Amino acid sequence: MYLSTLILLCSGLVHAAPHQVPFEASALAKPRKLHGRFLHITDMHPDPFYQPKTSEKTSCHRKKGKKKKNVAGYYGQPYSDCDSPFRLTNLTLDFIEKKWASEIDFVIWTGDNARHDNDRKLPRTPAEIYELNRAVAAKMNSAFTSRGIPVIPSLGELLIFRNNDVWREYLVILIFNILNIPQLIITSEFSSIWKAFIPFPYLQIFQRGAYYAVEVIPDAVAVISLNTMYFYDSNKAVGGCAFKDREDAGNLEFDWLEVQLKGFRARGMQVWLSGHVPPSSGNYFPECYVRYVELALRFQDTIVGHLFGAKASDLEIFEPAKAKNNNDLFDALIADFAAMPKPKDIDYHDYAVINVSPSVVPNPYLPSFRVFSYNITGTASSFKDRKPGHRRGSSKDKRKQCKLDMYRETWKCQLNETWHSDPESPSRSNRLWTPLGYAQYYIPHLEEGNKTHKPSFKLEYVTYPAEALGGKEGFHPVPPKNLPSTLKNRHTAYGLEDMTIGSWVALARRMSNSKKLSALFKKNMYMT
Ligand SMILES: *[C@@H]1O[C@H](CO)[C@@H](O)[C@H](O)[C@H]1NC(C)=O
Ligand SMILES: *[C@@H]1O[C@H](CO)[C@@H](O)[C@H](O)[C@H]1NC(C)=O
Ligand SMILES: *[C@@H]1O[C@H](CO)[C@@H](O)[C@H](O)[C@H]1NC(C)=O
Ligand SMILES: *[C@@H]1O[C@H](CO)[C@@H](O)[C@H](O)[C@H]1NC(C)=O
Repeated sequence: MYLSTLILLCSGLVHAAPHQVPFEASALAKPRKLHGRFLHITDMHPDPFYQPKTSEKTSCHRKKGKKKKNVAGYYGQPYSDCDSPFRLTNLTLDFIEKKWASEIDFVIWTGDNARHDNDRKLPRTPAEIYELNRAVAAKMNSAFTSRGIPVIPSLGELLIFRNNDVWREYLVILIFNILNIPQLIITSEFSSIWKAFIPFPYLQIFQRGAYYAVEVIPDAVAVISLNTMYFYDSNKAVGGCAFKDREDAGNLEFDWLEVQLKGFRARGMQVWLSGHVPPSSGNYFPECYVRYVELALRFQDTIVGHLFGAKASDLEIFEPAKAKNNNDLFDALIADFAAMPKPKDIDYHDYAVINVSPSVVPNPYLPSFRVFSYNITGTASSFKDRKPGHRRGSSKDKRKQCKLDMYRETWKCQLNETWHSDPESPSRSNRLWTPLGYAQYYIPHLEEGNKTHKPSFKLEYVTYPAEALGGKEGFHPVPPKNLPSTLKNRHTAYGLEDMTIGSWVALARRMSNSKKLSALFKKNMYMT
């Protein structure tokens, strides 16, 4: 590929009111004490029709389940096609509020807050989607926003209708056509539901395209929430970022993103990119993927990380993939890892790491969430000392190909701006704002929960080395009260020093050389 980029799809490290307090800019402007941690939560999928003891075949809505293992559990059905009972999404948010709200600085929430539309007898309606989103947003608001913790939601694929073709066509067009009036209705519905979360200056752009940015640490760190529906190749209502179609919704979003990144870079800030559908050549239109990767690398000195939601099986919305296909993802990753250049030949300018977090909904695995940590004590990388960017030399082959009519007017042949990468930037070396790692929590025995016994979240694993958990330079990446009383080796097997690009690449290399480590990776990826 022309951008010799490795995108580590880490879905496996992975496994894969005052309720309505109005948002006040002043609440965020007040300097808060930083904890050096944030929450990433995704894919809650609450289902108001979920009924315990029903059959999995009916999406856990009806009929008595026959085999014990296919009978819907009280708190949800693990490894199933069913969505979450409200009991489970409430349990999750109550747990996080109690154990984590006083330990984190912001919340990245990458979408999907409605049930799947996979029960023909109970087609999902827009009114229901709004209602579910409103319920979850109210809960997020009271748990976090009301405490002054910014929450940054992104639009999921919740408006794609799977079984009801009429609805599907209609709504896909509604939401996905940026120049279409009904789009405004949908995004303005969301701007009302998410009123508390979207900073006022971004409201207008949000209503146009459902993307925006939040300065989670004013003048220092921002989160850009992308609307990935414009890049997603299952969305037939958009043009797929074709170079010649400059008004295409995806192109307009990338143009906006580029301006945002330039602006944040000029202010010496660092940025997290977040969204629902992870960038990959399998999920994005080819031209949208080129633009994403090019921006990821062009602004490598400004982007500290990429956070996405969605389990792999969510991505084939019209034909849900079953777990059996998932091995392919693992095999593809290990093959990618093995094909990486030797350490002395590697050019870190060419890498970006995409983190894909597992879902709350136990479909197809177990309810999970992640708490990331980042460096709040290090020295800032000095912008003034930054090396000027470097223009990407293009190979002879590429120049030749780009003369051909077939390729001339493609993004690959047209993108020619200077790339900014710097070994001293936070994505490349551990310093102020560098992501350090994450802890993943899950409910290992969801099926055991019943009316009298709540199931509970446990630590599944951390990316940190065991020593770091004791507190490096007084910093605890995981508050000791949220660690199990005894840590097992499996909890700390990855031993990642930090989440710089170099550390990820080194882990990928270790993984391709160690059967034991890759087996663990696979186990975490598929929860087998
Ligand atoms: C979930 O929480 C909300 C708000 O805290 C509450 O109104 C609702 O009744 C709860 N639902 C269940 C099923 O626990
Ligand atoms: C934060 O960055 C500084 C370098 O600026 C480094 O010395 C320190 O170890 C880092 N902190 C952690 C917890 O990794
Ligand atoms: C960069 O590409 C644009 C078109 O995408 C073109 O107009 C411009 O001349 C190019 N600049 C250079 C220096 O090649
Ligand atoms: C609920 O689960 C607990 C623990 O598994 C068990 O001891 C108890 O008997 C169960 N209660 C009911 C009503 O099934």
